[in-house]
Amino acid sequence: MPKHLALVLLTSLPCWAIAQQVAIDSSKYPPLKTMTAQQDQANMMQQLGIRKLRPGPSGNESDPNHANYDESQANPCPQLPDVLTTKKGRKVTTPDQWWSVRRPEIIEDFEKEMYGRIPANVPKVTWTTKVTDNEFVGRIPVLARHMIGRVDNSEYPLISVNINMVLVLPQNVKGPVPVMIMLGFPTLPAPAQPSLPELEKINAAFKDMMIKSNPELKAIFDKYPAYSPITRLPGPNFFAPAPNGDSPPTEQLLAAGWGYCTLEPGSIQADNGAGLTRGIIGLTNKGQPRKPEDWGALRAWGWGASRVLDYLETDPLVNAKQVAVEGVSRYGKAALVAMAFDQRFAMVLIGSSGKGGTTLQRRVFGEAVESLAGSGEYHWMAGNYLKYAASESSSGPKTGCDLPIDSHELLALCAPRPTFVSYGIPEKGDAKWLDQMGSYKATVAAGPVFQLLGAKDLSANSEYNKDSMPPVLTGLMNGELAWRQHNGGHTDAPNFQYFIPWASKLLRYERVAK
Ligand code: GCU
Repeated sequence: MPKHLALVLLTSLPCWAIAQQVAIDSSKYPPLKTMTAQQDQANMMQQLGIRKLRPGPSGNESDPNHANYDESQANPCPQLPDVLTTKKGRKVTTPDQWWSVRRPEIIEDFEKEMYGRIPANVPKVTWTTKVTDNEFVGRIPVLARHMIGRVDNSEYPLISVNINMVLVLPQNVKGPVPVMIMLGFPTLPAPAQPSLPELEKINAAFKDMMIKSNPELKAIFDKYPAYSPITRLPGPNFFAPAPNGDSPPTEQLLAAGWGYCTLEPGSIQADNGAGLTRGIIGLTNKGQPRKPEDWGALRAWGWGASRVLDYLETDPLVNAKQVAVEGVSRYGKAALVAMAFDQRFAMVLIGSSGKGGTTLQRRVFGEAVESLAGSGEYHWMAGNYLKYAASESSSGPKTGCDLPIDSHELLALCAPRPTFVSYGIPEKGDAKWLDQMGSYKATVAAGPVFQLLGAKDLSANSEYNKDSMPPVLTGLMNGELAWRQHNGGHTDAPNFQYFIPWASKLLRYERVAK
């Protein structure tokens, strides 16, 4: 075969990196596999000996195969795996037994069967600042940094991964400050703008350029001599009222003396099955499909949050012992996974996370194991997870009831660190599909581990340890494990005004003005 020389133009890299053409001899590397999500899923089924998956139920209640919403049918196997009994059947009664025996057992099962393992060869990330800007958010002066975490791809240069994040720190308080890592889309909140005289120069040059490209424009500009094509956006409003519970969560955090960081999950790993041979998962597999125990997207996104935390540990303006992680929906699942596996995270806010997040896998209410395994969402999980939706397989059919672990144990892995489970209401769009009740039950069932480790669970001060959910707007926030269902939709924003004081109190953080 003739030696094939691929010219890869590293345009995705910022100019501070190698803004040049680099010749990569692609014949030196295993060829990058391109597959559709269906092909990739079929490949995994073949590796697992699965011939057929049960289809997930329909989310549309008028369809004949719609999801179950009958509570009396929702618990086919009500007995949860006992979070405080070891595989050998011993009761865990001391923190030491938890840390040395039971917790590692639970981690092993989650890695093997649900979220996958982070490979040992995952390369180093080097963080570089793309933009540093002094900005104002409302009337709060902030330091904003747009940063890129470049993953070393020297072992397989056909894939590059550049983690995209923005860090925003309040400049009017004494640091170091707590920071919340939010999974979402990073933008600089209010880029500083040129002054009016500077803008005049820019406009003059811009008009010249436009007239050069189209001389007809001169007559228009002459007709409106005071017109400037580039106008100033509204500047900082020093008279803006202080943020309240209706303000964006980021403004509430800054007002409370917290920093925040927005992290783009898609810059770590694409949110689809076709992307599994690319991104950080593809890079560690040298462009080949996954094996059954390899990590899925949720674990990869959580890994990315940990790499942000690595960076925050080097930043003297940040208190890296007080870093929270947050996300909603699929990113709520990822925030929980990040917190469960990396004990450096101080706390978590898990928004409307549903199946694959806080909701019990064993429950059959709304979204089912089959929905995650059988549809366009299987890439969130390890390949092995498909086994639990198999109707025909060399290892026999299995259901969610066969999983050796369940989500109360994922919450237990967060103990005794503060863990806040948030939902909205179906009437406003936080769909029944997400099974709020199943999440509440899991949160209650995680309680004994929080108690064992000297923290308070939902029931510590009350009789809440029942299977009925507290009314909407009644937060259970007296301990390290907290629950609150707000009366909004598929978002955690309405819970920030409760989360922030709860979190600051547990961290013993008080904002001190500079
Ligand atoms: C779907 C999916 C959920 C997921 C949600 C989201 O509803 O079934 O599991 O949480 O999308 O991320 O928006």
